[in-house]
Parts: sequence; C-alpha cells; structure tokens
Amino acid sequence: MVKICCIGAGYVGGPTMAVIAYKCPSVEVVVVDISVPRITAWNSEKLPIYEPGLDEVVKKCRGKNLFFSNELEKHVAVADIVFVSVNTPTKTSGLGAGKAADLTYWESAARMIADVSKSSKIVVEKSTVPVKTAEAIEKILTHNSKGIEFQVLSNPEFLAEGTAITNLVDPDRVLIGGREETPGGLKAIQTLKDIYAHWVPHERIICTNLWSAELSKLAANAFLAQRISSVNSISALCEATGADVTQVASAVGKDLRIGSKFLNASVGFGGSCFQKDILNLVYICECNGLPEVANYWKQVIKINDYQKSRFVNRLVSSMFNTVSGKKIGILGFSFKKDTGDTRETPAIDVCRGLLSDKAQLVIYDPQVPDAQIMKDISTPKFDWDQPGSTIHIAEDVVKQSVKVVHDAYEATKDAHAICILTEWDEFRTLDYQKIYNNMQKPAYMFDGRNVVDVAKLRQIGFIVYSIGKPLDPWLKDMPAVA
Ligand code: NAD
Ligand code: UDX
Repeated sequence: MVKICCIGAGYVGGPTMAVIAYKCPSVEVVVVDISVPRITAWNSEKLPIYEPGLDEVVKKCRGKNLFFSNELEKHVAVADIVFVSVNTPTKTSGLGAGKAADLTYWESAARMIADVSKSSKIVVEKSTVPVKTAEAIEKILTHNSKGIEFQVLSNPEFLAEGTAITNLVDPDRVLIGGREETPGGLKAIQTLKDIYAHWVPHERIICTNLWSAELSKLAANAFLAQRISSVNSISALCEATGADVTQVASAVGKDLRIGSKFLNASVGFGGSCFQKDILNLVYICECNGLPEVANYWKQVIKINDYQKSRFVNRLVSSMFNTVSGKKIGILGFSFKKDTGDTRETPAIDVCRGLLSDKAQLVIYDPQVPDAQIMKDISTPKFDWDQPGSTIHIAEDVVKQSVKVVHDAYEATKDAHAICILTEWDEFRTLDYQKIYNNMQKPAYMFDGRNVVDVAKLRQIGFIVYSIGKPLDPWLKDMPAVA
C-alpha cells in the first residue's frame, strides 16, 4: 500500500487529502499538523472548515484510509510520498517585508522530514511557493539526508474555497513539476501521476519542469486577480458614465478569447491567495531586476485597494458625508460565499473604513464565528504598500461600535444603511419590503456584490448603490467620489 503523509491540515491539505483517499482506496493517507485543536476538529463531527461536500467525503474515508494526527514525525518517517501544505503568508518583517513569502513553516517542515526519514521519499510542494523554492528545499533535504534519496516535486493546488470538492474531483488540470532531466525525477513524476490517474483523465495531468510548475501557480492567481481588477476598474467608469458593468462584462466576455467567467464586479477580491501571491510575484520580479514587470502586477492590488476605499467613500458621501453614530447593517463577512474563511476579506477594510468615520456596525454572516469577526476587525493590519506601518482601530472602539448577530433581519433593523459584502445566496431572497419597513429613512442599500434587484428595491423605496450600475438620481447629486 502506498503511504501518503500530508504536513498541514488546512484549507488545502484537508480537502485535497480527503479526495485522494476517497478516490484511491488502495492508498493510505495521513494528514498531520502541529495544531492540536485543528486535528481534534478533523477527527470530530464538526470539521475545522466549512466546505460544501467535504463532510461526506471525510466521513466515507476517515478511519479507513484517511487519518488525522498530531504525531508528525511518526507518520512522515514511514511515508513514501510527503505532501507539504503548510501556510506561506506574506512576510511582515525583515528582508522583503510586505511582499516576499514567509517560508518559515515550509523550512521547518523540510528540516523535520530530513531529520526523521529513514527511507527514500518523494517530497511534494503543495503550498504555493516562490519560483526556485524547490532548489532550496532540495538543499535542506540532501544536506541532512544521511544518504537517503529525496525527489522534490511541485504540485500546486488550484482549488478555490467554497467549491474545493468539485474542483478536486473534476480539476481543469493537475500540474506536476519535477526534475525531468533525471531518471529519478521522471520516476517520481510518474509515481505522483499514477495517484491522480485514479480519477483525473490522462490529458489533464500536465508535467513540466520544476520552475514552470512553481511559476504557473503564481501566474494563474495573478491572471485571475487581474481580471477582477480589470472589471472593477471599468465599474468605476460605468458609474461615471451611466453604463452598466454587468452588461459591459457580459458583452466583453462573449468574445471566446476573453471568456465570461470571473468578470463579476465586486467590492474587491479577498481570500488568502490573490494578494499574497501577487505580492510574492512582485518581489520575485524586483529580485530579478524587472521593476517594470513588478509595477505592472502591483497595479492589480492597487486597483483592489482603490475599489474598497471607493465603496466606503461612496457610502459616506451619499449619507450627507458622515456616518457618525449611524447604524449600518453589514450582510456578509467571509471573503466569498460558501466559506467561513475571512482571510483578506474586503469586509475587514470596509468595516474599518466605516468605523473610522464613527459608524455603528451590526454584522451578520451565515458561517463566520462572532469571535472571528471581532478579531479580524481589531487586529492591526499590515500595510503592504508602506512596509513597517499598520492600520489599527482601537479594540475598545471595536467593542463599543460593532455587534455581531445571527440573522439578516436583526442586522438591518433600525439601520440607516445596509452593505452587502458577500454574495451569500440567502441575501438574494430576503424580504426587502419587510427590511425597508424596519429601517430608518431614507433607507440606503450599498450592494458590493451586485446581489439585489436594483429596480425592485428602488420601487420599494430604497436608495440603491450597486457596484458599476447607473447611479440612483439621489447619489448623482452627492459629492463626487475619488
Ligand atoms: P492554512 O493556514 O489553512 O493551513 C496550513 C496548516 O499548516 C495549518 O493548520 C498550520 O497549523 C499547519 N502548519 C504550519 N506549519 C507546520 C509545520 N511545520 N508542521 C505541521 N503543520 C504545520 O493554509 P491553506 O489555506 O491550507 O494554504 C496552504 C498553502 O496552500 C498555502 O501556501 C496557500 O497559498 C496554498 N493554497 C491555498 C489555497 C486556498 O484556497 N486556501 C488554494 C491553493 C493554494
Ligand atoms: C483563488 C483561486 O481561484 C484558486 O484557483 C487558487 O487555488 C486559490 O485562490 P479563492 O481565493 O479560494 O481561490 O476564491 P476565488 O473564487 O478565486 O475568489 C477570490 C476572490 O475574488 C473572492 O473574494 C471573490 O469574491 C472575488 N471575485 C471572484 C470577484 O470579486 N469577482 C469574480 O468574478 C470572481
């Protein structure tokens, strides 16, 4: 039986390994992590992450060929293939702070593998890492290896949260990078290919050299984020001209060379990957003497920041230039629907922007725990554009001005305005007449996800702002938004 061990039981390690175990009954998969609460949760009825379809897959395999454990060394020692799926956040101090990937967790995992291994292993980079990381990992492994052979492969993960299980079961492609120039490298590539071939069609498994695989992951995320910043930049122009961004995106996306997916204008992209990976790309370009390329990609994040602050400015200027003491109902806090993940969610920046103008916030999200929302808003945020500085809202201000509730109607009761910050399906079918009746007047709706039926809400009596849509006559008369 092939033994797989995955270091890191997070949003990637957990679902990815669960699907491998599900699709390959002849393979034993153990997911290990240094976090005791995380592993305890993986072994419990309430998994540590919310992901549609995940519970079913885990329940089918757990205890049979899928295991979760804190005994890292024991399971790594006997594995044939070790996936490393630890977090690789942006560095917040030292060389490259604000841009470079922090590889501390990766390095410590690699050192542990080298220390405990007694047999040859394939070590798979599952985490997103800077191009050329495999070279450094090879050095760590071979330096401490006591004559054991390690083959390093890059097998980046392309799943998106909220659709992780369908993405894993039916991936557009699986990418495997390795040392194609050596027999050992080719054999390792084939071994990993054989695992995926249990369910992924042959033509969708792409094999490349190590550096292409590592760079493809960063490039894919940069391209995806760029599409959102492109459509968001056009959304600002739509508001200024009377064009409708949904109509423009649809017309543009009909061109098969462009395609219609991933062109939804929004309050901004969030998630743990896009900003981090683009900053990483920017840093690598700078280190390779390519400042023009670095600046090109930096602009994708700048437009994203602009979109978030534009939203806050629009809201404040529409409400007579102040939200001081006004109650704002926030619908949605996660960075997208169908996940409880809040990493880099635009909701954090929007809420902080409103708090700095002294608003009172009542927040509802179907999945994000109350404590997580409070923590996210109070934790000082590292400013990537000005390394060394942080944006901070004092904890007592957060405690006094933010309330988390468990119902959209409660969040919006007596509110002066509503902000939709995540596109949860349930926000499409709320009883907006009832909500309107219970709000202060004039009642404002600021839809950051183009979820509501603008005409219907205007008919009810709301003053509606929806990203990139022709402006409400009321908003047109308000001061211009920079
Ligand atoms: P995560 O923070 O959810 O999980 C990482 C886990 O690794 C944590 O549970 C942490 O305790 C554990 N860990 C850290 N150091 C460890 C060590 N030395 N030994 C054992 N466990 C250790 O992160 P994630 O979202 O799963 O992302 C993991 C990697 O995958 C990142 O590089 C990310 O960029 C990449 N990625 C993420 C996504 C996504 O949607 N989240 C998608 C594709 C790729
Ligand atoms: C992303 C990549 O899609 C995935 O391939 C990679 O493996 C990890 O990073 P994820 O961050 O989980 O996945 O979600 P994604 O669906 O890409 O959405 C990212 C952000 O962009 C969300 O905040 C989402 O709301 C926003 N978005 C997405 C838009 O604003 N408009 C769109 O058209 C699509």
